[in-house]
Amino acid sequence: MKTAILYASDFGTTKKCAENLQNKLKGECDLIDLTKKEKIDYDSYDKFVLGTNVKMGRINKYAKKAVKNKKINSKLQGIFILCGYPQTAEKYFEKNFKEKYTKNVVVKECFGGNLDLKTESTFVNIALEQLKAFNKEKGIKNPQVNYTKVSNFARILNRR
Ligand SMILES: Cc1cc2nc3c(=O)[nH]c(=O)nc-3n(C[C@H](O)[C@H](O)[C@H](O)COP(=O)(O)O)c2cc1C
Repeated sequence: MKTAILYASDFGTTKKCAENLQNKLKGECDLIDLTKKEKIDYDSYDKFVLGTNVKMGRINKYAKKAVKNKKINSKLQGIFILCGYPQTAEKYFEKNFKEKYTKNVVVKECFGGNLDLKTESTFVNIALEQLKAFNKEKGIKNPQVNYTKVSNFARILNRR
């Protein structure tokens, strides 16, 4: 049973979760960074897992493309997202993952997110400050990565 975790990350949080998940999944498991646009040997995998960040309410464009790919979605069993507002995760799933592409998915989860990032882009740093300010105003704690959720996600996939 060979698995590929396909992921798309801008600032490394989704990547970190993909790596953590890789260590928790049974059997052979490859990590594939979708943003590198490398050729994927679809037939060599029995199972796909997709991980993506959320920006402006949308999943990463490479993840969006991957989920529409029949060679991937026919074997897609797990989806995880990372975002700044985990309380909105259900909406992000609904909006970004059409039922017709996710028929074989057995587990969907938001692993939390990270807003405490400093990037080289002033625009991104301002956006992150605004997201934190919004949470503060609403009295919501800033998100962190929840590794217990990663373990539970792995447990479900390992049963299949
Ligand atoms: C420009 C920008 C826009 C974002 N938009 C959203 C958003 O609409 N909703 C949300 O919940 N989080 C949003 N976030 C927060 C990211 O999803 C969060 O920082 C996530 O951990 C990033 O994952 P990554 O490190 O894998 O790129 C945004 C972050 C940035 C920098």
